[in-house]
Amino acid sequence: MRQNLFKTIFFTLVCIFFIGEGAGATEQPIQYNHYKHTQELELECSMCHQGVKDKVRATIPSVEVCIECHSEPVTDSPEEEKIREFYSKGEEIPWQRLFRVPEHVFFSHRRHVTVAGIECENCHGDMAKRTKPPSKAPMKISMNKCLACHRKLQAKTDCVSCHR
Ligand code: HEC
Ligand code: HEC
Ligand code: HEC
Ligand code: HEC
Ligand code: HEC
Repeated sequence: MRQNLFKTIFFTLVCIFFIGEGAGATEQPIQYNHYKHTQELELECSMCHQGVKDKVRATIPSVEVCIECHSEPVTDSPEEEKIREFYSKGEEIPWQRLFRVPEHVFFSHRRHVTVAGIECENCHGDMAKRTKPPSKAPMKISMNKCLACHRKLQAKTDCVSCHR
C-alpha cells in the first residue's frame, strides 16, 4: 500500500518535470534554415539582424526582409510558402526570442561585435549553422560567462557597468 503511494508520488513528480521541460521548448512559426542562408548562400548576419553592428539590439528580421527574395517561390517548400501567407495578410512572422538578459542587465551588440570584434559563436554557439530552429538557446547566457571574458580581456567588471 505504502509502496504504491510512493510510486504514485514518484510518477507524478517525473510527469511534472517533463511537462515543465516541454513548456520551456520553443516552436518557431517557420522552419527557417540558418545553414542554407548563411553557409550556402553566404548571406551576412547583418542582412537580417540589422542592428548587430551598430545598435544595442541585433533584432529578428521583419517579414519585409524575407519577402525581398521570397515574393516568388524559389523552392517547393511549404515552409517557404508561409512567408508569403504572413506577408499577404499584412502580418509579422511571430518569431520567439531565445536569448535574453533580464531587465536589470545592459548589453550592447555594437560594443561587442564592432568595438571588441567578438565573433557571434562566442555567445550564440552554433546557431548560424543550424538547419532548423533550435527549441532552446544553443548556449546559456550567464553572469559568470560575461565576467570570465571581461576579466580575460580586461573589460570592466564593476557591477554598475552591466547593472544599470
Ligand atoms: C536570411 C535571414 C537571416 C540571416 C542571414 C541570419 N539569420 Fe539569424 N535568425 C533569422 C531568423 C528568422 C531567426 C529566428 C528563427 C530561428 O531561431 O531560427 C534568427 C535567429 C537567430 C538567433 C537567435 C536569436 C534569439 O534570441 O532568438 C541568433 C543568435 C542568430 N539568428 C544568429 C545569426 C548569425 C550569427 C548569423 C550570421 C552568421 C545569422 N543569424 C544570419 C534570420 C537570419
Ligand atoms: C537574399 C535572399 C534571401 C533572403 C533575404 C531570404 N532567403 Fe530564404 N532562401 C533564399 C534562397 C535563394 C533559397 C533557396 C535555396 C536553395 O534551396 O537553393 C531560400 C530558401 C528558403 C526556404 C526553403 C528551403 C529550406 O531549406 O528551408 C525557406 C523556408 C526560407 N528560405 C525562409 C526564409 C525566411 C524566413 C527569410 C527571412 C527571415 C528568408 N528566407 C530570407 C534566399 C533568401
Ligand atoms: C558577447 C556576447 C555576444 C556576442 C559576441 C553576440 N551576441 Fe547576440 N546576444 C547576446 C545577448 C546577451 C543577447 C540578449 C540581449 C538582450 O536580451 O537584450 C543577444 C541577443 C541576440 C539576438 C536576439 C535579438 C535581439 O535583438 O537581441 C540576435 C538575433 C543576436 N543576438 C544575434 C547576434 C549576431 C548575428 C552576432 C554576431 C554578429 C551576435 N549576436 C553577437 C550576446 C552576444
Ligand atoms: C567573449 C568576451 C566577452 C563576453 C562573453 C562578454 N563581453 Fe562585455 N565586453 C567585452 C569587451 C572586450 C568589452 C570592452 C569593449 C570596449 O573596448 O569598449 C566589453 C564591454 C562591455 C560593456 C561596456 C562596459 C563599459 O565600458 O562601460 C558592457 C556593459 C558589457 N560588456 C556587458 C556584457 C554582458 C552583460 C555580457 C554577458 C551577457 C558580456 N558583456 C559578455 C567582452 C565580452
Ligand atoms: C559583465 C557584466 C556583469 C557584471 C560586471 C556583473 N553582472 Fe550581475 N549579471 C549579469 C548578467 C548577464 C546577469 C543575468 C544572467 C544570470 O543571472 O546569470 C546577472 C545577474 C545578476 C544577479 C541576479 C541573479 C539572479 O539569479 O537573477 C545579481 C544579484 C547580480 N547579477 C549581481 C551582480 C553584482 C553584485 C555584481 C558586481 C560584483 C555584478 N552582478 C556584476 C552580468 C553582469
